[in-house]
Amino acid sequence: MDKKELVRLALEAQEHSYVPYSHFRVGAALLTESGKVYQGCNIENASYGATNCAERTAAFRAVFDGETRFAALAVAGFPKDCPVEDRGYAYPCGICRQVLREFALPGMKIYIARTEDDFIETTLEELLPLSFGPEDLSMHDKG
Ligand code: THU
Repeated sequence: MDKKELVRLALEAQEHSYVPYSHFRVGAALLTESGKVYQGCNIENASYGATNCAERTAAFRAVFDGETRFAALAVAGFPKDCPVEDRGYAYPCGICRQVLREFALPGMKIYIARTEDDFIETTLEELLPLSFGPEDLSMHDKG
């Protein structure tokens, strides 16, 4: 799975978004250590705070499947029918960064895409430095 293909799958995932309120479509494609890919979309709610972001939809689908080691994520977000030249780079929100942190392999790559050929490459460590994770809980070591 190369990064361009992962980006393509994130762009495709936007088509699944349920966005009657913001009309802002976000798609994500998450690559796990075993080579599986999980797509996610944002799913909004009439009670706005109950909305689920695309990144978390993808993460939770993976974890349900027993895939708890994340290698890379591609994400694309812009309004429905937005012309290419008006698209921005939509970075994962803070809550999604923390959810990814739970399962991220060291050096987990994040690709923020406007198109299949135009994306920024970063890492989860860069987006969420000095973070809190499972190993910070003493319970983690004791089981
Ligand atoms: N959204 C995501 O799906 N991912 C993010 O990281 C940021 C925001 C969604 C939530 C909501 O449906 C829309 O974008 C506008 O906030």
